[in-house]
Amino acid sequence: KRIDWSPVQAERGGYKHFMLKEIHEQPDVVEATLRGRIDLAAGDVHATEMGVTPEFAKELRRVYIVACGTSHHAGIAGRYWIEQLARVPTVVELASEVRYREPIFFPDDLVIAISQSGETADTIAALKAAKAQGAKVLALCNVLDSAIPRLSDGALYTHAGPEIGVASTKAFTTQLAALLLLAVYLGRRRDSLPAERGREILQALWEIPSHMREVLGDADYVHAIAKRLVHAKDVLFLGRGLGFPIALEGALKLKEISYAHAEGYAAGEMKHGPIALIDEALPVIVVCPRDAHYDKTFSNLQEVRAREGQVVAIATKGDESILEIAQHHVWIPKVPDEVGPLLTVLPLQLIAYYVANLKGNDVDQPRNLAKTVTVE
Ligand code: G6P
Repeated sequence: KRIDWSPVQAERGGYKHFMLKEIHEQPDVVEATLRGRIDLAAGDVHATEMGVTPEFAKELRRVYIVACGTSHHAGIAGRYWIEQLARVPTVVELASEVRYREPIFFPDDLVIAISQSGETADTIAALKAAKAQGAKVLALCNVLDSAIPRLSDGALYTHAGPEIGVASTKAFTTQLAALLLLAVYLGRRRDSLPAERGREILQALWEIPSHMREVLGDADYVHAIAKRLVHAKDVLFLGRGLGFPIALEGALKLKEISYAHAEGYAAGEMKHGPIALIDEALPVIVVCPRDAHYDKTFSNLQEVRAREGQVVAIATKGDESILEIAQHHVWIPKVPDEVGPLLTVLPLQLIAYYVANLKGNDVDQPRNLAKTVTVE
């Protein structure tokens, strides 16, 4: 059989767009992030390249994360993990805001600059402000030897490989994996995370790529849901706890490439505003796995249904209650709560991709957006 691929198609590995190729690469690149860094027997993480010594890990008083866009969403998940597992007060700030405030840093702060490209101007400026006040700076980046790692005291690279699609996908899931590794590393040094618990989390993380393959295998099913969303003008995304940054990321993906108005909200904030928008025309995508927050998020979902909102639930396989209430659902396998975000984000990336593709948009190069923003 003759193969008619143009060189560009070959580069895309047979996928119609780089974004779709990159979505499907995620299991492999997350493996690359984890490779050589996990010590399962000890329930511990090795990453000396971070330049965070055991002594500093023990003594640091605050983690201060700066980032933009998708990297900022990864930072929010990082905050939950670092607070929970390492018991360090953690803040996450938009780099573009930090640089225009008069931020306060201390020498026992660990400032983490998260950036796929390592070249985002606002993130660089925030990092410089932190350095000028003597804070320790760690780069969490994908592109080797880019500006941010060069300016930092150490680097934790995500090893996602080149990301071509402007809408970030594999960079995000590898950032999540790296942040969870970092939280375990800090937790073990600070004696807030027992070896046994560390081992459980790392085991779950180690198994994540195979679960990601399973979820990505359901892509046709997600395509059918996307067909129903093509004409939506507004879409609301809700999530709680680790589901919150995923709701934000799902909304950002849809907005970036399908040009629909999408908002990500903390489920608990629904009653403080977005509930006013809900009617039969509003699709509401709820990140609702069977985690510690399930009951609360489920009751938000009931409130949406009571107002005729159209519910798409990202839920744990076999959850019968979801079937009764949501018009559409995508299953994810049951996994420990900590690793859930690495799965729940996948259907949201696919929904955004398929909606944009059905609209005939230029998925890899959405209008007005740049892959790397090197200006203020
Ligand atoms: C741009 C890109 C986004 C990215 C953001 C931050 O807006 O389009 O995909 O999340 O910059 O980029 P960085 O390289 O710092 O992660």
